[in-house]
Amino acid sequence: MANVSRSSFPVILSILMATIIVTSSGVFGEDRQVYIVYMGALPAEGEYSPSSHHHSILQQVLEGSSMTESLVRSYKRSFNGFAAKLTDQEKQRLSNMEGIVSVFPSRTLKLHTTRSWDFMGFPETVKRNPTVESDTIVGVIDTGIWPESKCFSDEGFSPPPKKWKGSCQGGRNFTCNNKIIGARFYSFYEHEDSARDTNGHGTHTASIAAGNKVKDASFYGLARGIARGAVPSARIAVYKVCSDKCSEVDILSAFDDAISDGVDILSVSLGGYEAKEYHTDSIAIGSFHAFRRGILTSTSAGNGGPDESSVVNVAPWMLTVAASSTDRRIIDNVILGDGTTLMGRAVNAFDMKGKKFPLIYGGKASSSNHKDSTRFCLKGSLDENLVQGKIVYCDSYSTGELTLHAKAIGTIMGDDRFSDFALSYPLPVSLLSVHDGERVKSYINSAKNPEANIMRSDVLRDANAPVIVSFSSRGPNPMTTDIIKASIYLDISCLSPDISAPGVEILAAWSPVGSPTNVSADTRSVKFNIFSGTSVACPHATGAAAYVKTFHPDWSPAAIKSALMTTASPMNADTKFQDREFAYGSGHIDPVKAVNPGLVYDTSGGDYLEIQCHNGYTTKEIRLIAGDNSSCPKRELTRATKDLNYPSMATDVRKSNFTRTVTNVGFPNSTYTATVTSHSKIKITVSPDVLSFKTLKEKQSFVVTVSTEEKYDIISASLVWFDGVHSVRSPIVLYYGS
Ligand SMILES: *[C@@H]1O[C@H](CO)[C@@H](O)[C@H](O)[C@H]1NC(C)=O
Ligand SMILES: *[C@@H]1O[C@H](CO)[C@@H](O)[C@H](O)[C@H]1NC(C)=O
Ligand SMILES: *[C@@H]1O[C@H](CO)[C@@H](O)[C@H](O)[C@H]1NC(C)=O
Ligand SMILES: *[C@@H]1O[C@H](CO)[C@@H](O)[C@H](O)[C@H]1NC(C)=O
Ligand SMILES: *[C@@H]1O[C@H](CO)[C@@H](O)[C@H](O)[C@H]1NC(C)=O
Repeated sequence: MANVSRSSFPVILSILMATIIVTSSGVFGEDRQVYIVYMGALPAEGEYSPSSHHHSILQQVLEGSSMTESLVRSYKRSFNGFAAKLTDQEKQRLSNMEGIVSVFPSRTLKLHTTRSWDFMGFPETVKRNPTVESDTIVGVIDTGIWPESKCFSDEGFSPPPKKWKGSCQGGRNFTCNNKIIGARFYSFYEHEDSARDTNGHGTHTASIAAGNKVKDASFYGLARGIARGAVPSARIAVYKVCSDKCSEVDILSAFDDAISDGVDILSVSLGGYEAKEYHTDSIAIGSFHAFRRGILTSTSAGNGGPDESSVVNVAPWMLTVAASSTDRRIIDNVILGDGTTLMGRAVNAFDMKGKKFPLIYGGKASSSNHKDSTRFCLKGSLDENLVQGKIVYCDSYSTGELTLHAKAIGTIMGDDRFSDFALSYPLPVSLLSVHDGERVKSYINSAKNPEANIMRSDVLRDANAPVIVSFSSRGPNPMTTDIIKASIYLDISCLSPDISAPGVEILAAWSPVGSPTNVSADTRSVKFNIFSGTSVACPHATGAAAYVKTFHPDWSPAAIKSALMTTASPMNADTKFQDREFAYGSGHIDPVKAVNPGLVYDTSGGDYLEIQCHNGYTTKEIRLIAGDNSSCPKRELTRATKDLNYPSMATDVRKSNFTRTVTNVGFPNSTYTATVTSHSKIKITVSPDVLSFKTLKEKQSFVVTVSTEEKYDIISASLVWFDGVHSVRSPIVLYYGS
């Protein structure tokens, strides 16, 4: 079940959609590689100097390399560790030293966009807590920001909140203001000289989470309306870690700084190519220390769907966000010479002004013997003499770069992939189904002078929304025995992704120097762009979490996460299992309801440490990670991850029971009754099934027991606690493990 299958689909998408990816970093010198040496929390007190400790450790292992050549980065503000260029041998020696939690190669991560808020039932006029919102700081770890965008103007903003401890180190020609109150940039790969966003991705995510309200925003008139972030009065702190790619060395620096700078929430629309064990994953490590300091990290699930177990940011202390559609679909029509109109999917702002152009089949547009590649409009030789000024029909999806290069005037593609969202291209494009593509081909074959027109995009209402989009990465959490430290089996008990938010065709701010399509020949400069990806879903959840926090500044990250999850709207369960909870977690985010969840499933950092014990970490290591005298429980490790106080539930049916504890945050005096919805052949009981509270913050526990006689694949069920006002819902996924 947990095999990560690798079709070409996610690969193509990762190029298109920007979830940031982490690959093994380059080799330095002959056999040195950059490793991250993770040492856990900073010691609580005493005269500890992390820098001298890092130096002395390195000195003990280095052979034939100087300290300055080897040491790449020290992490010392919010947690402890460093990055260094090491040989295999040096790495081995270091791994066995006292005080080290893990040593792992630094990977390169990849980048993972406003109708969406209204669609989520979060109107402009929503009730707000303005004073607290203006003191809320959203940290964005991404490709930087375009500070001159209207979305980040500081008109009407007071000076930064007093609690802010960060600074503006945005580099060359980068000025912060009272909206963007902090900026830092890191450049492991390229020589960056500022936190300015030359890509567009970071500007897009930041404006979704916390951008100002900007009227009359559009992409060349498409999707015109008011662009706004979830918390427009909040402040933004920018941590630029990527241009086209991102190094884990930099990502850890960003977390190290952001936590100490005093951000309230972190948005990280980046990820690796596959899930990794927590202490060898920079985002898991950084977000763990953020969690311990009361900061929730919202991350993108990845764009590796629809394959199962493609989800990447899986640690239970972060919020992992899947991407779903909104009720606004962008389409564009093709009109053939014979009058046939076919509906395609593409964001096409180009206007052919109703004129028809000659239409040619790619397979017949090759001067040489490259027919097989030209029919797909992939690499090969589209003959410029044959395609110039014409519309080319291709048998598969492509970025349009090559047809543009061959001076074609437009491209029609037939491909059943990417059919549930519209991509943007550097020339007029319409992506049709293979079925409609065949109609275009037979028209080309039968007409004497085939011709066509590709219309400018239009907007349709989609009554089926929200549905999870194909590219959104799926669970289950792919962590299995082979990547955990010891042989103790980790239950796949935390559903991941956790929640779904809009991630399809979202209009938000863009960098005017970033290509709107990431095709270098596309030199259009735009202030707003329409973009899709779990990268885009993530900042919607970040913004929603920030919004909840403005009403409950004292809530833990786990409580905020729980509030978002238990109030999410259930999504369509009539689908294949990988399109159910493993695709959308608890369901579709509802920021307004999340402010008032009734009960929360709270969790402390200690609970997460106990899970680490299950994963084979010893008390010694746990103490390093926690920076205190925490220890693994002496008793047998019977409390498996299924018992982690998580707001969603997943378990092997044969494990029969699990416990949860809820904290009352609704009415002081209230009584909740449990309702279970399940498959008829599976018995699920909740004991007790009535919980009575007398005070706020009171906790009550219950046990869920599952029994079945039969062997099933995967069953979806749910538990709802209801007091007459608050409905506290947890999905329950039951599987029969191998
Ligand atoms: C954009 O294009 C460049 C160059 O082709 C590529 O390296 C990069 O990965 C692309 N970026 C994204 C986010 O797809
Ligand atoms: C700073 O950046 C802005 C935005 O790109 C640009 O208009 C301005 O000319 C730059 N100023 C300098 C001194 O480079
Ligand atoms: C752990 O530390 C706390 C306070 O720092 C102390 O109260 C407690 O006794 C310690 N526990 C153990 C087992 O040492
Ligand atoms: C839960 O299951 C375990 C192991 O099957 C059993 O020992 C325990 O009594 C059960 N707990 C409850 C409350 O049913
Ligand atoms: C609240 O508590 C009082 C007793 O303290 C009880 O009489 C009343 O019914 C309770 N109200 C609700 C809504 O449970």
